[in-house]
Amino acid sequence: MHIVLVGMMASGKSSIGKVLSKSMNIPFLDIDKEIEFHERRSIKSIFENSGERYFRKLESKIIIENLGAKKTTVIALGGGAFLNAAVRKNVNEKSISVWLDVNIETIITRVKKNQKRPLIEKKSDEEVKKIYEKRLKYYEMSKIHIDCNKKTKTECAEEIIFKLKSIGINENN
Ligand code: S3P
Repeated sequence: MHIVLVGMMASGKSSIGKVLSKSMNIPFLDIDKEIEFHERRSIKSIFENSGERYFRKLESKIIIENLGAKKTTVIALGGGAFLNAAVRKNVNEKSISVWLDVNIETIITRVKKNQKRPLIEKKSDEEVKKIYEKRLKYYEMSKIHIDCNKKTKTECAEEIIFKLKSIGINENN
């Protein structure tokens, strides 16, 4: 059973994922990084030169391929991936999904510090909030919900481990 981290951009999927993978002693995989490696160009460049449709197709293909790997892995999805029904189906079949819930005000503050997110590059705070609100119902479909507000990444990772244990998933599963 893989552990798949779901949530809005800048919710901490990669940073918490790394802490979690270390604590559980299992590998970590960042889907955005896999896409960039596969394409030999940045996410920003993929969006700019090939468009979002191309990106989404590739994203779902790479997620589904990696979910097929036998070795248990902590997998961080990109913020828009869980909106795709085929991705959700595969994630539900082959992993435990964990939603990192961070309030939109914090997300907006964090994304402003980083220009690497083409989807929201020219968007106002209100528009980013609308994207978040549209996505909430999908994030809520995750099996485990972690309130990451006012918590360190270590605290979030500890809470994930605690909740995984409560459903019978341990470090050495
Ligand atoms: C996206 C989030 C990004 C990346 C791409 C699209 C999204 O990943 O996949 O820019 O639609 O929310 P992060 O969630 O890691 O920022």
